[in-house]
Amino acid sequence: MNKNVRKAVIAGNWKMNKTRPEAKALLEELKPMVADIKNVEVVACVPFTNLETALAVTEGTNIKIGAENCHFEKSGAFTGEISADMLAEMGVEYVVLGHSERRQYFAETDETVNKRTVAALAAGLKPIVCVGELLWERECNITEEVIARQIKLDFFGINADDLKKCIIAYEPVWAIGTGKTATADQAEEVCAFIRATLAKLYSAEVAEAVTIQYGGSMNAANAAELVSKTNVDGGLIGGASLKAADFTTIINAAENG
Ligand code: 13P
Repeated sequence: MNKNVRKAVIAGNWKMNKTRPEAKALLEELKPMVADIKNVEVVACVPFTNLETALAVTEGTNIKIGAENCHFEKSGAFTGEISADMLAEMGVEYVVLGHSERRQYFAETDETVNKRTVAALAAGLKPIVCVGELLWERECNITEEVIARQIKLDFFGINADDLKKCIIAYEPVWAIGTGKTATADQAEEVCAFIRATLAKLYSAEVAEAVTIQYGGSMNAANAAELVSKTNVDGGLIGGASLKAADFTTIINAAENG
């Protein structure tokens, strides 16, 4: 990553894992391991039921807490949903939006990702917006079309100041939970393409300011090479974020890289 203009963000996405006692134990273990980290923003995005526990356990530390989704309406008859205001009021700082699992299993579309991003920004949350191509799309050589379309639609109507508050996570769907990591060169190629797309839509200055993460089977062994790439500003980590030692190794790779 380019440390002159951006700070690395290493975020764990716990997905549907950890009860409250398990969440407490993992964060208690992680706290001392990352206490000296200065140059990396450390974030844990946890299930809704763990947010209050996670916020209490990490109070006064350098670990920030995020949610894994939010609804786009402020309030109302949306059974089972959680609004951005509800999260912000708790002290939650980040929210993952448009994750491929939401797109794949819960009918999330670019239109609803856009609405959720607008709502999250209005509530003062920092959205981590996920984009990425399917294996079939990569094989058909349309990765750039797919990513450009997602970027244009997901950030439609969002101004430059708000865009700078967003993190974009490039997560090739074929690399998520499969053990197949994009090579560092593949990750760099698409992250650089995302930055070039933002430069066209906004400006070079805005594009340089935006944090672009890689996600997809990132782990203790491959993190250093991935974050060594100019346009890879950290990672969104699933499985490896559930183990304090592995997550810490990834954070150290970004801190020292
Ligand atoms: P894995 O690291 O388990 O592949 O998950 C990546 C991911 O989906 C993070 O949001």
